[in-house]
Amino acid sequence: MNRPIVILGYGGHARVVLDVLQATGREVAGILAPDLPAGTLWEGIPVLGDDDWTRRPDAMQYDYTLGVGMLPHRSQLRQRLFSLLRDRRLSMPPLVHPSAIVASEVVLGEGTQLMAGVIVQPGTVIDENVLLNTRVTVDHHRRIGAHVHVAPGAILCGEVQLADRVFIGAGAILIQGVAVGAGAQVAAGATVVKNIAAGIRFIPGRLPIRIEEA
Ligand SMILES: CC(C)(COP(=O)(O)OP(=O)(O)OC[C@H]1O[C@@H](n2cnc3c(N)ncnc32)[C@H](O)[C@@H]1OP(=O)(O)O)[C@@H](O)C(=O)NCCC(=O)NCCS
Repeated sequence: MNRPIVILGYGGHARVVLDVLQATGREVAGILAPDLPAGTLWEGIPVLGDDDWTRRPDAMQYDYTLGVGMLPHRSQLRQRLFSLLRDRRLSMPPLVHPSAIVASEVVLGEGTQLMAGVIVQPGTVIDENVLLNTRVTVDHHRRIGAHVHVAPGAILCGEVQLADRVFIGAGAILIQGVAVGAGAQVAAGATVVKNIAAGIRFIPGRLPIRIEEA
């Protein structure tokens, strides 16, 4: 039987995560938020406290999921919170919206989240703490590295490789076989036809930008 689950964060992504949990019938124990008073309610869910709540002796009786997303200019927080939960040996099961289609021979890493309408085709290995946002499609036989965010509506054709911490903007299209290096970022709406090196921000029609914070 599933254990009650705790959401870290309370922004827009947390609200969508809450909806996924409710759609899958999970019991939500509460949220952890650094700047909301414990004991109050957020979206009808109890605020349990901040991250320190996970030090309680009974914290291992719960599952956890991240309610913070990952954006180009704020790319560190999601990975940091994942590491915090990992260091405390807390359980982060993959989260899959009931409308997502996950083919055979797909591996989903710890804490990975597949939002509404996502399609993942056979032979795809998705590492830990990956966020495939609304209506993303991932074609066959690819690897998606840890802490990657693919924003809504992006299309990844067959055998694309995304290294760790990559961000793919909303509606971007990556043609078959391209590789995106660690920490690279692809602008919303971009069409990617060549490999992108690690640590580069790719905006169509612009020279590649080296990312300081990646
Ligand atoms: C690429 C991105 C990160 C901006 O990066 P940035 O380095 O801060 O770039 P700036 O906003 O300073 O824009 C630099 C130039 O690129 C252009 N540009 C920015 N984003 C662009 C895009 N997606 N497509 C085409 N051109 C873009 C800007 O208009 C600007 O042009 P200008 O110099 O002529 O004024 C951002 O535009 C983007 O695409 N973010 C992804 C948004 C998204 O997918 N959100 C999903 C949330 S779930």
